Amino acid sequence: MRFLSILTVLGASAYGALAWGSLGHVTTAYLASHLVSNSTEAFFQNLLRDETSDYLGKVATWADTIRYTRWGRFTSVFHFIDAKDEPPTYCGVELARDCKPEGCVVTALANYTARLLDPELPAWERNQAARFVVHFVGDIHQPLHDENVARGGNGIYVLWQGRRFNLHYVWDSAIAERLIGRNRRKPYDNAKWWAEELAVQIREGKFVEEKEGWLKDVDIDDATATALAWAREGNAYVCSHVLPEGPLAIEGQELSGEYYDKAAPVVELQIARAGYRMAAWLDLIARRFQEQGAEREEDLWEEL
Ligand SMILES: *[C@@H]1O[C@H](CO)[C@@H](O)[C@H](O)[C@H]1NC(C)=O
Ligand SMILES: *[C@@H]1O[C@H](CO)[C@@H](O)[C@H](O)[C@H]1NC(C)=O
Repeated sequence: MRFLSILTVLGASAYGALAWGSLGHVTTAYLASHLVSNSTEAFFQNLLRDETSDYLGKVATWADTIRYTRWGRFTSVFHFIDAKDEPPTYCGVELARDCKPEGCVVTALANYTARLLDPELPAWERNQAARFVVHFVGDIHQPLHDENVARGGNGIYVLWQGRRFNLHYVWDSAIAERLIGRNRRKPYDNAKWWAEELAVQIREGKFVEEKEGWLKDVDIDDATATALAWAREGNAYVCSHVLPEGPLAIEGQELSGEYYDKAAPVVELQIARAGYRMAAWLDLIARRFQEQGAEREEDLWEEL
């Protein structure tokens, strides 16, 4: 029995490994690359040493590939914040209560934003910071990355088209894959296609009216508050859509029917918001870094 339960735990964390699934992460990154300004594009292509249009998409899942390595182990807590709320009775994220002393997705996003802006850091560290920022903006928009219950749903077992999966996996991957309904063996092509669709919806489709509202909490001078607002918004879906009747009621339920019909629009909206906000955030970072550089040059001239 003891052996069995260890296997269950290992299985669960292996599913949790690909946060937002690669489809979600790569889509948010491609979407951002459609929406950033030209100078932001040049800035990040230079920093990431990639002149192609894939410069963000290619690095979007890097943070997942290093979190289980020996040197990258300290980053594994950076992918989520364990909101100790009680869905569906009440949802909410409190930084002091929910962020571990080692960090969480909110402090990590703030940390790597600050590191991106730090001209004293060597380029390779700022390159890494860019990869983390692209990844964590994605993670924070997945509701179960903003929730403590059963390790973000990794310990809740449900059915998806008759097969047993954990709930975290359903929200990371299964819903998005079904939504776009394309060959799942080609995640990069699928992500590119989906990002183009979402870019059209944002520019001239169903998201045109609401997109400005998506930036209301964005403040480059307070990255922690910005990230916390995004985490709270994602966490609220745990009460409304992820566990609308609580964690016990969902155990063993088939989720690819009615549950999917309600969840899919949330997944689409969160991916669209993540890409749109990522573009805005990268624009602000690139502009701020360049302004700092101009100021440093002025100071140098004054000293002369
Ligand atoms: C940005 O780049 C696009 C395509 O590369 C070009 O069409 C557009 O004029 C550029 N915009 C600015 C403001 O330079
Ligand atoms: C910030 O990032 C650096 C470099 O990865 C890391 O050593 C440090 O622990 C991080 N700090 C926080 C508060 O996340």
